[in-house]
Amino acid sequence: MLTNVEHIGIAVRDISASNALFSKLLNVTPYKSETVDSENVTTSFFKINQTKIELLEATSPESPIAKFLEKKGEGIHHIAFEVDDIKAEMERLKKEGFTLLNEAPKRGADNKLVCFLHPKDTNGVLVELCQEIKE
Ligand code: CO
Repeated sequence: MLTNVEHIGIAVRDISASNALFSKLLNVTPYKSETVDSENVTTSFFKINQTKIELLEATSPESPIAKFLEKKGEGIHHIAFEVDDIKAEMERLKKEGFTLLNEAPKRGADNKLVCFLHPKDTNGVLVELCQEIKE
């Protein structure tokens, strides 16, 4: 089951400049900054009540974020929904005809298991499913 919007991901060219910008905008500083080597991104997370914003900067030209910036420029990159059982949701969405960008849940930023859906099936919106890793 999808339970809520967990965060909105925004692609940025310069994460330190954008951290300063979003700190002013939201009036909070990032609670976490993390590099995800498997995705070639550096991320930072802001939180206001239950609302989270993730900033993403590419760490290599091979990064999906570098490709996104090249094509579309800075802006909203994905919407992440919290799920209670990521494997069950992946199975369900696959049956519904959505294209999963990874066949097994993978470790994402902010202590989550994640799976992305191809935007061609979702009106151009990259959708992330995420489930908190409890260990
Ligand atoms: Co995300």
